[in-house]
Amino acid sequence: MSVTILKGTIVSAPALGKLEITENGYLVARDGRIEGVYPVLPEQYAGAFVEDFGSDLILQTFADLHLHAPQYPMLGMGMDLPLLDWLNAYAFPTEARFADPDYARAVYRRLARELIAGGTTRVCMFSSLHRPATVILMEELERAGITGYVGKVNMDRNALPGVLEETAEESIRETLQWLEESAAFRHVKPMLTPRFIPSCSDEVLSFLGKLAAERDLPIQSHLSENQAEMEWVRQLHPDCKQYWEAYAKFGLWNSRTVMAHCVWSDARERQAMHDAGVTAVHCADSNQNICSGTAPVRVMLQEGVQVALGSDIAGGDHLNMFDVVASSIRASKARRMLDNWQTDFLTVPEGWYLGTSAGAAFFGEAPGFAPGNPLHAMVVADDALPQPHPLTPAERLERCVYLRQQGAVRAVWSAGEKVYTAE
Ligand code: GUN
Ligand code: FE
Repeated sequence: MSVTILKGTIVSAPALGKLEITENGYLVARDGRIEGVYPVLPEQYAGAFVEDFGSDLILQTFADLHLHAPQYPMLGMGMDLPLLDWLNAYAFPTEARFADPDYARAVYRRLARELIAGGTTRVCMFSSLHRPATVILMEELERAGITGYVGKVNMDRNALPGVLEETAEESIRETLQWLEESAAFRHVKPMLTPRFIPSCSDEVLSFLGKLAAERDLPIQSHLSENQAEMEWVRQLHPDCKQYWEAYAKFGLWNSRTVMAHCVWSDARERQAMHDAGVTAVHCADSNQNICSGTAPVRVMLQEGVQVALGSDIAGGDHLNMFDVVASSIRASKARRMLDNWQTDFLTVPEGWYLGTSAGAAFFGEAPGFAPGNPLHAMVVADDALPQPHPLTPAERLERCVYLRQQGAVRAVWSAGEKVYTAE
């Protein structure tokens, strides 16, 4: 039996809009799973080793439910075109480089380290279409201590030569082989990843839908991000009244489905998400950078749709989830202004919940530091920020969201293990 005991100012998000705060408290895990958060160390742990972080914050780590690993090399560049042109001009050529396994290794090792150092320990991540590079990505994530899902991208139509699979057969064969190769991983698992409806033939979509059902595999893709994209889907699938129906038609719409963006999803499409238990991933930076729109994230929450956050690099320009939480709050305020002040914006505790507990729910965790959850935690020091008078833990968290300091994350635990210590 192994016991981990962390002492500090413990802040967690046990429900949307609520923070649970224990100052000078103890977060206890046994064999990698949380036992509880205690103001006083229970008798049974007397004499056990306690890692004392003084007044530092002990927080849940982040879950980034949508990002493109092979777009990491173009982070912070090329955001001057709308989605479909942006894909052809920047995203597809950048991803094409991942045909080279050595390049993939170097980039993905760096990406994995940056994720962990920023406190992201769970992901739903797009790779590129390349099978060897996808396996390399899974290796590098696992080595760094990141958990979650990675998808080899399926795309067998509507792109340029060199940036798509030549045939449906090739796409199917490579996917099956990748699934075999993925069996070796402990914390990083495969997720079926049709890029988006316009990228996939009916043959590939129907193969993926059947595979998802047969092997109980999760699914990720994009939905209603941009209006030109939506019009294209209407032309490709005239039998479908709305975008989501093109996924549903092929068996790709269920409670293990994650759909990025949903900027333009109307009440009917949101109802379909709610009814099927699909998770919508809000990608505020990307939606603004490539002028996709401002998603009605607060309305979705009100309607009971499951919403989590994604950095969506490199449409998004921030990999760090402190920044992504702040962007999501700002986007919800922009939505409020567009809605004539008729809709609410996200509060800081709500934004924090979306970046942590809401994403963790996709991996089967209960919200907050709930007993039984695998230990995913980080120690955050905010002492480099000016502090002329004492702040409450909630104020400190708010300031960390808006004024993230380089190196503020001091240590990270993922799936029960300590995976990162700042130098
Ligand atoms: N839709 C299809 N592919 C992509 C992508 O790489 N990024 C974004 N933002 N949307 C997409
Ligand atoms: Fe995306």
